[in-house]
Amino acid sequence: MSFQNLAAEQGDPSAKGSGNAATDKFKNEAVKSDTSTERAGAIYTDLLAAIGEVARKHEVTYDEYRVLKNWMIQVGEYGEWPLWLDVFVEHEIEQINYNRMGYTGTKGSIEGPYYVENAPELPWKTEMPMRDKDREATPLIFKGQVADVDGNGLGGATVELWHADEDGYYSQFAPGIPEWNLRGTIRTNENGEYEIKTLQPAPYQIPTDGPTGWFIASYGGHPWRPAHLHLRVKHPGYREITTQLYFQGGEWTENDVATAVKPELILDPQADAEGQNVVEYGFKLDKED
Ligand code: DHB
Ligand code: FE
Repeated sequence: MSFQNLAAEQGDPSAKGSGNAATDKFKNEAVKSDTSTERAGAIYTDLLAAIGEVARKHEVTYDEYRVLKNWMIQVGEYGEWPLWLDVFVEHEIEQINYNRMGYTGTKGSIEGPYYVENAPELPWKTEMPMRDKDREATPLIFKGQVADVDGNGLGGATVELWHADEDGYYSQFAPGIPEWNLRGTIRTNENGEYEIKTLQPAPYQIPTDGPTGWFIASYGGHPWRPAHLHLRVKHPGYREITTQLYFQGGEWTENDVATAVKPELILDPQADAEGQNVVEYGFKLDKED
């Protein structure tokens, strides 16, 4: 069964639907690392020591331990490990690796659970696939240039864009949305430019009716991510960037549940005469070494 069917089977965009869809998608990806036994030993020893330290510090009770065990089982059954991990852990991994690589180009941000590869290719000046319903949202014109760190345009680069609709749902992870809605692979022109018409996305709420939602409610937190665009930018010979862009003054931009906002990644679109939001933002790619 495909992950789309799993989402559709639920009939409504429930936690179990989007969680299982995200898990199913991830299970289809090739996952491996060349971690040595020595490194694995070092990481696990420190991880278990950190867990022990927290348990001792807070004198965790047996009831709390049993609730944790039950919750972890539920996270698996709801297929929510991709959601929980990408909200609470991925930002640390992203930051560590950005720093280690010594990047100087555009900052990255978390991929999140809803990327799908091989979105249909679109020309440099284009409109994202959308439904009539999506046209009721404020249009957003997103334009700019993919360049090297010296500002030389990179023709033929690809800008993969994916984002939620005005209700906060991603195609392929919620039922009833066309497969490639608001997903595309835009190819830059010979100067590295792109001009994409899409819609102003809405803030995204982590499903509250599953174990990630229960987790957040248990400490009185909020389940919101600010409105965002997801992007992956590639050109042969350059390091690919996975990032997100946010909106100035948007709700939750200051306190994203996933801790994935960086000041360099905040857009400030301006309304044009036709009431469309227009913004220019460029990407700078580091050379591959
Ligand atoms: C999650 C959803 C997102 O859209 C995102 O960008 C990051 C995380 C999530 O539900 O885990
Ligand atoms: Fe997202």
